[in-house]
Amino acid sequence: MANPRLRGFFWWKRWAKTNWIILVAGFTIILLALTVTIDSWSKESDLNGSLDPKTSLVDLTLLRNAKDRGAVCLDGSAPGYHLRKGFGSGTNNWLLHIEGGGWCDTVASCSSRKRTALGSSLYMDHRIPFLGILSHDPLQNPDFFNWNKVKIRYCDGASFSGNPESELKNGTELFFRGQIIWEAIMDELLSVGMANARQVLLSGCSAGGLATLLHCDDFRKILLKDARVKCLADAGFFLNEKDVSGNHAMHSFYRDVVRLQGVAKSLQRACVSRMEPFQCFFPQEIVKNTKTPVFLVNPAYDFWQIQHILAPDASDPYNNWRKCKLNINNCNASQIEILQGFRNSMLKSLHEFQQNKDGGMFINSCFAHCQTWMASTWHSPSSPRINNKTIAESVADWYFDRKVVKEIDCPYPCNPTCHNMDFSGGL
Ligand SMILES: *[C@@H]1O[C@H](CO)[C@@H](O)[C@H](O)[C@H]1NC(C)=O
Ligand SMILES: *[C@@H]1O[C@H](CO)[C@@H](O)[C@H](O)[C@H]1NC(C)=O
Ligand SMILES: *[C@@H]1O[C@H](CO)[C@@H](O)[C@H](O)[C@H]1NC(C)=O
Ligand SMILES: *[C@@H]1O[C@H](CO)[C@@H](O)[C@H](O)[C@H]1NC(C)=O
Repeated sequence: MANPRLRGFFWWKRWAKTNWIILVAGFTIILLALTVTIDSWSKESDLNGSLDPKTSLVDLTLLRNAKDRGAVCLDGSAPGYHLRKGFGSGTNNWLLHIEGGGWCDTVASCSSRKRTALGSSLYMDHRIPFLGILSHDPLQNPDFFNWNKVKIRYCDGASFSGNPESELKNGTELFFRGQIIWEAIMDELLSVGMANARQVLLSGCSAGGLATLLHCDDFRKILLKDARVKCLADAGFFLNEKDVSGNHAMHSFYRDVVRLQGVAKSLQRACVSRMEPFQCFFPQEIVKNTKTPVFLVNPAYDFWQIQHILAPDASDPYNNWRKCKLNINNCNASQIEILQGFRNSMLKSLHEFQQNKDGGMFINSCFAHCQTWMASTWHSPSSPRINNKTIAESVADWYFDRKVVKEIDCPYPCNPTCHNMDFSGGL
């Protein structure tokens, strides 16, 4: 065994192993440094929008004639939107993004909401940054950067679908005008140029994603017949699933929202004629009857849905889910199995939609919620990807009919590009 060559070989092997470890460690540090740099770079550009630090902020416009039309927020104040004009080849193209922020289902929850920006324009920020899908920076938003962009503020508490007939007439000062707000804002946008739009994308996040689906077909009808009009719901595909204690928490919640705010009148007639109105507030029913092309961006492990549909506090009296709900990395094997079941339910609910030839989807396996209005998740070097495409690239491929986009990620934890949220910091 005294073969020097062999010894040399083993020596080399050992040396190489040590070196390899050092190399990997070195690479990891470089990678980490790079990630941090890219991250802080994208955070900075998130804050500043683009080269000019001031231009990413867009002013709030309060709706004209809001009071005359009865188009008012929960508290009776005027609703609003932020508009940045398009330029160059984007002058006649419009991208609308509806703000999200849950719903209110009781007099008490709507009354507290009316003292926040989600129920009153008195509390809204007057200047907000336009990032991700709303950015005018071609690096952040390669296909839509020069379009007219509108962010529609959410202040009715029922995804722009409440109706005044159900307002309480006993001195409770709450206005349920979501549907009227929607129509009034659309009229105003048509009057400032949207009536001539050639290409339009209606989008929204969370409750705004649901509003996008609810209004998609009606929106199509107010625009030019030969315009290209499509709808993108980000994190708006709320499932009608049982929670971990076996209760239908979401289904009861939606039933209360629909009842309180008189939403039935705004729901698809084809659906309401077949089932209870609140069921028609669930996206899986809405997309069945929607004729306008729809794209769904939704994480299969949507943290809002996990925290409020799958394992709401009421379903978890011993706080077994607390850590898992704050950070998916804290979930144990049995919880992960339940989360995989939730993903399977989502894929099952999407099965029919998947056959829709005009539809598109990007269902990534991340612990996230809205992913289109942040530069870091919409389109950046470190964005979540499926098949190496960012959400921005996938949506644009579908919007411009470049290719069929039906992206479904492999199950957690397979995708290293995810930006998984961690809410456990404050504990
Ligand atoms: C963003 O703004 C901050 C503060 O105004 C400034 O210090 C920073 O250099 C800006 N970053 C970029 C990328 O413009
Ligand atoms: C009006 O009716 C609602 C629903 O029944 C109730 O919750 C609320 O307290 C009432 N308000 C007043 C001022 O009586
Ligand atoms: C996971 O955690 C829950 C709640 O703490 C516990 O009931 C369950 O037995 C755990 N499962 C495993 C596989 O550790
Ligand atoms: C992924 O896409 C980027 C450009 O976005 C490209 O540079 C890279 O080579 C692609 N990677 C793979 C594995 O295809």
